[in-house]
Amino acid sequence: MKSEIRHLAVFTSGGDSPGMNACIRASVRAAVGNGIRITGIMRGYQGMIEDDMVPLNARSVSNIIQRGGTILKSARSEEFMHRQGRMRAIENLKKHNIDALIAIGGDGTFRGANVLIDECGIRVVGIPGTIDNDLFGTDFTLGFDTAVNTAVEAIDKIRDTAASHDRLFFVEVMGRDAGYIALWSGISGGAESILLPEEKTDVGQLVELLRKGEKSQKSSSIVIVCEGDDAGGAVRIAEEVKKLDPHFDTRVTVLGHVQRGGSPSASDRILGTRLGVSAVEYLMAGITGVMVGIRNGEIVDTPFTEATKKHPAMDNEFLRIAKIVSI
Ligand code: F6P
Repeated sequence: MKSEIRHLAVFTSGGDSPGMNACIRASVRAAVGNGIRITGIMRGYQGMIEDDMVPLNARSVSNIIQRGGTILKSARSEEFMHRQGRMRAIENLKKHNIDALIAIGGDGTFRGANVLIDECGIRVVGIPGTIDNDLFGTDFTLGFDTAVNTAVEAIDKIRDTAASHDRLFFVEVMGRDAGYIALWSGISGGAESILLPEEKTDVGQLVELLRKGEKSQKSSSIVIVCEGDDAGGAVRIAEEVKKLDPHFDTRVTVLGHVQRGGSPSASDRILGTRLGVSAVEYLMAGITGVMVGIRNGEIVDTPFTEATKKHPAMDNEFLRIAKIVSI
């Protein structure tokens, strides 16, 4: 279908994630290839409010496919939560005759996009950009694969020193309310136990499991703790374990924002590229109010209302095998 879009803008919002640049590059080049003018909005919704925008062309996105972070920068805008802030954002979009948006981010980004659609009727397509993999409507979010690989690399290193000193390590990985990074890095890193927000954590049971491991000649153990676990973060859980059984020689490593940076994996570059091109094509086809994602290798779309309300279910098969192989 011939495009009715004349001026498209792209922005990244919420926590950055590796692969966002590959996605920006793809959106820009797909737009340019279709004769659509494209602008980058800096710092997400905050830049929209402050009229912080930059014209983009095919060359302004050269040499960024391999870079982590986002060239458009990102922010969590408090001002955009209020109608007055949004009105300023809408005025700026109108001033530049921007008639469609590509919003790369997480659920907060899509909730904002939905409000914009309601209040000014602009066309918006979203792209799931968060390391947490917590968006309904896609098997993978942009940056998840890279974050898992970063965590696994760190766990492998921790394993070396844990084994040398016969220690019990608690490694905290990111995931505000979803345990995907924990589950995937825990299985890949050969963890003895993986503590997730999706499952009730019983520290007493954990101690039993670790003692059982010792009895079967395990001299060191690694417990992966998702930051959003119901029993607290790794520091707190390690303290409780130590209280229940002081003989464990415990250490804690919080991986933190290391997981958000770094050069994106090939998978994240491909995902970002596919989603970036798809978003432009969806907008050109007149589609709005959806997040484009990937399911069983195919591009699919999910309304923002669903993507933000529902939570993807934790893979029971992964949970099951994680327990089988950790004895
Ligand atoms: O949503 C991605 C995420 O990295 C979460 O895993 C984490 O809880 C949060 O962002 C941290 O946010 P900030 O960078 O604002 O501290």
